[in-house]
Amino acid sequence: MRLDQCHNVDDFRKLAKARLPGPVFHYIDGAADDEVTRRRNTAAYDACDLVPNVLAGVQEIDTSVTVMGKRIAMPLFLSPTALQRLFHWRGERAVGAAAEKFDTWFGISSLATVSIDEIGRTISTPKLFQLYVHKDKGLNAAMVAACKAAKFDAIALTVDTIVGGNRERCLRTGFTSPPRITPSSALSFAMHPRWTLDYLLREPFELSNLKDHLDEGSRKSMSVGEYFTTMLDQSLDWKAAAAIRADWGGEFCLKGIMSVGDARRAVDIGATAIMVSNHGGRQLDGSRSPFDQLAEIVDAVGDRIDVICDGGITRGSHILKALSVGAKACSGGRLYLYALAAAGQAGVERTLGNLQAEIVRDMKLMGAKSVADLSRENLRWR
Ligand code: LAC
Repeated sequence: MRLDQCHNVDDFRKLAKARLPGPVFHYIDGAADDEVTRRRNTAAYDACDLVPNVLAGVQEIDTSVTVMGKRIAMPLFLSPTALQRLFHWRGERAVGAAAEKFDTWFGISSLATVSIDEIGRTISTPKLFQLYVHKDKGLNAAMVAACKAAKFDAIALTVDTIVGGNRERCLRTGFTSPPRITPSSALSFAMHPRWTLDYLLREPFELSNLKDHLDEGSRKSMSVGEYFTTMLDQSLDWKAAAAIRADWGGEFCLKGIMSVGDARRAVDIGATAIMVSNHGGRQLDGSRSPFDQLAEIVDAVGDRIDVICDGGITRGSHILKALSVGAKACSGGRLYLYALAAAGQAGVERTLGNLQAEIVRDMKLMGAKSVADLSRENLRWR
């Protein structure tokens, strides 16, 4: 399979699977426990049908939305994800450049493989930083200070990773950061020489924003699940979130909100956005899907905070459904990570191009000239 044969997210998934050593592919693709939530995140969209209007004069349409104070050209942005230089040697640099071309938000993780400072200097599209609150308070303060210095546009405090999810695929493959070549994974690395040569010969792997504070993840190999459980601050609470929000002072998003009560508390502490998200099903299996939770959250807080629907999206029609319910925008991780692994920046651009074309086509077929024309009138649940 070649890049020009990738017409949808699943095509990119197949190409990524062919190009990556098994442990790396299954880290991206896998989720917690039985992976029920991961599957439901996408399947939830099938329980809801679009009802189009016609004869709407849709030659010119506008797909832009305003989210976290920035107007972006498409109602989809790239959620922050970790370890990107393991998926393609250009990692966050490739993803940021692709987001810039499509004029949309992108984010980098605390577990990014390129520094906050470099992304701030080189990428002009709106940027958010995914903050994981560590036990090491000096590290937390340093990351927020670096975001200020690099003029990041938002911080997304991640609230659903107090302990690591039970990612059984990672347990089976032995995936760690940095990757460990074990007797069982050696064959998989040997069978993917291009990936292995990139890993061994290009810029050494590191977690750029953590490495000066911690050995774990950069010099000491550890699974991501174990990293969350041992390194992150389990005492994190609303008071701490409010303090980070006050220190940061800018656009502030809580990533991983699923209940109406928490959405209201997010408004109370002055958050400007929430990502309705279950971390791609990678944490609490059995959690409801973001799309299924969206309506009640939008009804409670949608006029006071930007509600973003994150996770499970593989189609433009999924995005139209979430916008019709009242999301300000959608976001996703795997939808661009497969493409990054498959073909670097060109891959991410192609998947964004495919999704943008689906959004435009489907808005025209829905009779919507702008996102404001989409509403629950256009939806029916089965
Ligand atoms: C994950 C983190 C790092 O693996 O976002 O889910």
